[in-house]
Amino acid sequence: MKKITIAIDGFSSTGKSTLAKQLAKHLGYVYVDTGAMYRAIALFAMQNGYINSELFDKEKLIASLPSIKLQFKFNSDLGFAEMYLNDTNVEKEIRTIEVSSFVSKVAEISEVRAKLVEQQKEMGKDKGVVMDGRDIGTVVFPDAELKIFMTASAATRAQRRYDELTEKGDDVSFEEVLHNVEERDYIDTHRDNSPLVRAEDAIEIDNSYLSREEQFDVVLGLVNEII
Ligand code: C5P
Repeated sequence: MKKITIAIDGFSSTGKSTLAKQLAKHLGYVYVDTGAMYRAIALFAMQNGYINSELFDKEKLIASLPSIKLQFKFNSDLGFAEMYLNDTNVEKEIRTIEVSSFVSKVAEISEVRAKLVEQQKEMGKDKGVVMDGRDIGTVVFPDAELKIFMTASAATRAQRRYDELTEKGDDVSFEEVLHNVEERDYIDTHRDNSPLVRAEDAIEIDNSYLSREEQFDVVLGLVNEII
């Protein structure tokens, strides 16, 4: 069976990572959550006082980029890899609403994108990878054998995100989450550098009314046509 590259792009909270993890597990592929990498850089900027609600010192962040080490380490109990920022596990910290509120501003910086895209290309160079993000099918792996573009209504996505956050005990309102989802959609689709667009050869899946299992079956069917 040949190994392929599976690129999954789409708007925030469309269930890209759920689908990517299911596929990687089933196929024995490596899963790479590129959003986690942008989130880790945003966390770094927050921890160092380079970004907050009043300021964003892009130059300081850019100057610090060579000193930032990002790694995924597989956690066999969880069954997926966790994000490490300069040797510290930051998997929980990068999922907060604060990081979500800054990450798209950080992801607009071309130096940040160049660093992460290079690392992502390296991680996927041997194929057998499922990578999710915003620019995987367009920029990171334009030759991926299978490209999926996921969509769902903003309200559906915000509800999923809200349920996830409140389940973890985060004190957020639905309106705050909806606002964040819409704001990130706007920034991600309007930035000059690698905006979120559907690759011409990507297959679009609107999962507003699909269960996880139905969605997985649809995509696995597509994979099986190729491998
Ligand atoms: O996928 P997730 O929602 O965790 O991504 C967080 C943010 O990181 C996105 O809203 C986007 O601004 C940025 N991102 C990106 N390119 C990627 C992955 C994520 O710009 N490949």
